[in-house]
Amino acid sequence: MQVGLKIWRYDSTTGERALREYELDAPEEATLLDCLDLVKDRQDGTLAYRKSCRMMICGSCGMRMDGAAVLACKTRMYDISQAGHVPVISAMGNLPIVKDLVVDMEPFWAKFKAIKPWLEPGYDQPEVNEEHVITQERMNVIHKESLCINCGCCVSECNSMESDPEFLGPQALAKGMRFVGDPRDAATVERLDAYSSEHGIWDCTRCYFCNERCPKGVDPRDAIAKLGAEAMAAGIDDDMGAKHANWFVTSAKTTGWLRETELVPKTQGVVSSIKQMKFAMGLAKKGKVPPPIPPHVAEGVKESRALFDLVKEQGRDGALGIVQGERALSRLEHEHGADGGHGSRDQADITPGEEPTRKRGTD
Ligand code: SF4
Ligand code: SF4
Ligand code: FES
Repeated sequence: MQVGLKIWRYDSTTGERALREYELDAPEEATLLDCLDLVKDRQDGTLAYRKSCRMMICGSCGMRMDGAAVLACKTRMYDISQAGHVPVISAMGNLPIVKDLVVDMEPFWAKFKAIKPWLEPGYDQPEVNEEHVITQERMNVIHKESLCINCGCCVSECNSMESDPEFLGPQALAKGMRFVGDPRDAATVERLDAYSSEHGIWDCTRCYFCNERCPKGVDPRDAIAKLGAEAMAAGIDDDMGAKHANWFVTSAKTTGWLRETELVPKTQGVVSSIKQMKFAMGLAKKGKVPPPIPPHVAEGVKESRALFDLVKEQGRDGALGIVQGERALSRLEHEHGADGGHGSRDQADITPGEEPTRKRGTD
């Protein structure tokens, strides 16, 4: 097949940048990485990119195609070639470019190290010749997080990192959840405390681009939600983001809807609220602020309160609740719900370790 590629070339020593176009003849099964190899072998030996395993294991070949992060060795070129499209290939975002498609991964590894990616000892050692057995339910909490290959595709697309380079980011936080969720780790509270501080969990904007672009189904945003839930279950809720989330719950439980007029004082405190009085008055003049007294109570508030009680009664606080929600949504998405025509599947019907197949990005 005929493949066209436009590649952003960059030389960090001279600052030169140019978009170069290449045309090549490639086998129909070729991936983007195979095509780059062909360009390098036959047309331009100076093209720089990273690779190693060629099979989505090592995480070396992250780059952008048409502005979205991909693993080059996972991206088949057949459909793109047949459509006559010439994709633009560039280096990953949010990391400094060294040359062409090679980025400096040092800031990435610094954050990885900062979350202490190892098990802190202190757990009961199993007897000699015995294994440490962990229940499937606990394993489900960190199953996805354990799939990470440290490719950086999520970091490349992270909105928060773009505005705050100090933000720990989706990869480091997903890795953090892998240890917080491990029942053998003896530093859960210290970890949650550290990850909840500035540039941590609550600085995520929930844009979900990391979930969309992760080539391994780690769903880093879901991992961050699990960390937030675990932090709140452990009483670590001083951050404004945690207070915000807490108010959502209290508000829904008491009146069945979100009382936005109270959101700022409950989240940011009295001083900040006073500073924002002028803005609030402007909203009130435009009829955007409902009278606080008597408080508006939703018609179905009993249902909202019953749901709150049910969640408490079932012990769904923390990450386990998020995992249950994810699995329920996956079953609905794949029509395994009660009226989906395929019969419903209980937790027990899912093979241990199995995650239902989920829709991913375009590759
Ligand atoms: S959801 Fe959060 S961590 Fe993920 S890309 Fe968006 S801002 Fe970054
Ligand atoms: S979470 Fe996904 S995208 Fe991010 S580094 Fe790990 S495997 Fe790559
Ligand atoms: S070359 Fe290893 S993941 Fe692509």
